[in-house]
Amino acid sequence: MGSAARLLAFLLLGWAIEVVAERPPSALELFVRPDKGHCIACHRLPDNAGPQTRADLGPALDGRRMREIGKARLRDVLADPTRANPATVMPPFGRHRILDDAEIGRLVDFLHGLP
Ligand code: HEC
Repeated sequence: MGSAARLLAFLLLGWAIEVVAERPPSALELFVRPDKGHCIACHRLPDNAGPQTRADLGPALDGRRMREIGKARLRDVLADPTRANPATVMPPFGRHRILDDAEIGRLVDFLHGLP
């Protein structure tokens, strides 16, 4: 490989790494990452929707129930569950700015689409 080609390969690799690093986390990543939602610590997901755990601090999340609750109320739950239940152990992800609006939106779509 000539030095120009090597330089180009190096620059492209650097760019690719940057693109991967800056891609916003997917809903499932937000769901499992300890520095984001870490929802998986308290909630179980339906089969095939993500990692299977025995977490039971919060209710198991299933699609039918999520669609019953509806997107608007799901958004409220994620933004600040203490409004509905001041004694809840679920963190107020929006109010504490752990998740931004777009991240909450992606999680709401993910929950709403669960099997
Ligand atoms: C520390 C434990 C904990 C964490 C972390 C947590 N939750 Fe919860 N969650 C709960 C509990 C407990 C409830 C039950 C409602 C209450 O306490 O008022 C709940 C309720 C819910 C509900 C309503 C369920 C229903 O059937 O009514 C949804 C939806 C939900 N959580 C989603 C999430 C998502 C998404 C995340 C991550 C961004 C998350 N939770 C993180 C504990 C947790």
